[in-house]
Amino acid sequence: MNHDASPLPYGDEDFDVEDSNRSRNMHFADVLAANRSRRAVLKGGLAAAVSGLLVSPLAAARTERFFADAGKNIPLPLPRRPGFQAVAVNRLDAVTVPPGYTARTAFAWGEGIFPDSPAYLPDGSNTGADQEKLIGQNHDGMHYFPLGISVAERNRRAILAMNHEYIEQTELHPNGQQLVDGKRLPDDVRKEIAAHGVSVFEITRQPNGRWEIVRNSKYNRRVTANTTCEVSGPVRGSAHLITKFSPDGTRTRGTINNCAHGYTPWGTYLTCEENWAGYFVNRGQRPREQTRYGVPTANSRYRWDTVEERFDATAKADSAAGDFRNEPNGQGWILEVDPYNPGVMPVKRTAMGRFAHEGCVFAPVQVGRPMVFYSGDDAQNEYIYKFVTKAVFLPAPLRNDRNALDHGTLYVARFDADGSGEWLPLDFNDAGFRAKAAAAGVSFADQADVLVNTRLAADVAGATRMDRPEWGAVDPRDGQVYFTLTNNSRRSSETADAANPRGPNPFGHIVRWREAKGDHASTRFDWDLFLLSGTEQDSANPAAGPNAKLGPDGIHASPDGLWFDDAGLLWIQTDMSGSQLSSGPFGNNQMLAVNTETGDIRRFLVGPPGCEVTGVVATPDLRTLFVNIQHPADGSHWPDGNGARPRSATVIVTKDDGGIIGS
Ligand code: FEO
Ligand code: CA
Ligand code: CA
Ligand code: CA
Repeated sequence: MNHDASPLPYGDEDFDVEDSNRSRNMHFADVLAANRSRRAVLKGGLAAAVSGLLVSPLAAARTERFFADAGKNIPLPLPRRPGFQAVAVNRLDAVTVPPGYTARTAFAWGEGIFPDSPAYLPDGSNTGADQEKLIGQNHDGMHYFPLGISVAERNRRAILAMNHEYIEQTELHPNGQQLVDGKRLPDDVRKEIAAHGVSVFEITRQPNGRWEIVRNSKYNRRVTANTTCEVSGPVRGSAHLITKFSPDGTRTRGTINNCAHGYTPWGTYLTCEENWAGYFVNRGQRPREQTRYGVPTANSRYRWDTVEERFDATAKADSAAGDFRNEPNGQGWILEVDPYNPGVMPVKRTAMGRFAHEGCVFAPVQVGRPMVFYSGDDAQNEYIYKFVTKAVFLPAPLRNDRNALDHGTLYVARFDADGSGEWLPLDFNDAGFRAKAAAAGVSFADQADVLVNTRLAADVAGATRMDRPEWGAVDPRDGQVYFTLTNNSRRSSETADAANPRGPNPFGHIVRWREAKGDHASTRFDWDLFLLSGTEQDSANPAAGPNAKLGPDGIHASPDGLWFDDAGLLWIQTDMSGSQLSSGPFGNNQMLAVNTETGDIRRFLVGPPGCEVTGVVATPDLRTLFVNIQHPADGSHWPDGNGARPRSATVIVTKDDGGIIGS
């Protein structure tokens, strides 16, 4: 098997800018110039950063990608905030922001991103072919990849990459889901597949302050549940991936249920495949890699299998190359998409494990040290993982492993009651791991088998079952890692533990940890509970005091999205549902900002009914904030109003005085 083959998707294009310079012969002097410029930006403070050219033109011509991570490693010299007046709990069919702020809507489902994109039809009658040229539905995680040379330009011009987690059939089609003789309509399925995935498009801020899509940009691209993807890492070429479509097990089609996201120190987008299992069906004997993840046995989630045979994982042929029994093994990965090189095929990075990936966040990088990526498995009683690369971080031109995400060690977390914790390797070549597997009566054939069965491997390793790990975020100032645990109805008083102390846990909480010796590659850490979400009576805010609870400005439940801005303010987004959303004390889903040192927490934004608030990123100067509103419902007509179908969309928030968001 071809396990070590590297597709080299980024081999020649690391410094490719939006023009056509594909040279990889960047001179070291240019790198140093770029580095010096970067430090000048950071040390010079925001005032300096906002105006003028701070990158030498020679280096700048190749630094588009290099600066994609601007600010991640060195926090902006700003005080931690918040300073705004909190928004009250509400159930308005609107997006509410504090006084002195303005929220505008953009980039809604159905908006065109290509010169020949058709118009959005408000009755749901766009075809499948139309949808392939329109922004997808159910916006989720997103990232802003700056474009241009000057700092000023990078704050008003970018590639925006955003996930589309799933679909709302009642809004997507004129009359919802149609079944004729038990089968879906082929064009409806085509449209649903196209409404999934990732939208990538260039945006610019106009002189009037509005942001618009640059339809003729060469960066614009849709990745859907039908896009052919390369598979790399240990699972590439393994028997687990052999299908009728890919008899050598090196490719798969599509990315499904892309929830939160990540990005890399080298300026690529990571889209995370979360609840993919339900899109398949297996009416025969399910192997362990399908049972542990919950591939259905009766019907697939949207019944795509009725017209697309690849969603039927039932073994039918004499061998795997004759059917799609292994098709689900092509999902559950982190998919790397290169926004700066739209011609490059997306790559599934299998070394990072297979589960219901919520998102992926990397720790601040250090030259000469491994790179570390954290990812949660969002299901009840699942785990938190980290991936430590074998390659060490080197400044862009010196980078010598173009496929760094293919080589490294995957770990899973155990949280001990004394406040310490350990990262447990899921490594076929680790004697301790193999001994645990043997003791549990579980056998793995090789690392590919371990990775396809990541959850089983983590069971064997003895990881701590968590209350649905969602997003992670790393404090740019002190390197502490924060993770939301959104809720868990299956936690009981018997199974509650120190890190998941409520049984059941309807409100969720936020855990954080500090890696031993400040080294993100450490196998030991110390953790504590940062916040217990909930009501004024049932919550805890330890940063504000030993007995502090949340007040009216801070109550919320089901924390999901989590993001540190570069000034060190922590943003929390909620995904309440059911009665908690419709009749709880928390109003609609929302976004709050919290000062992690003082526990000062304030509600910054409230979304329309039925929606979840998810996906957040800012321009490098922190003066424009992008937030996604997913699946407004329950009578909402947001954002179009006037009885229109509700649409997922992005909200762009600015401060009326042009100031830093959150100040
Ligand atoms: Fe897609 Fe875990 O939220
Ligand atoms: Ca969601
Ligand atoms: Ca989420
Ligand atoms: Ca969620």
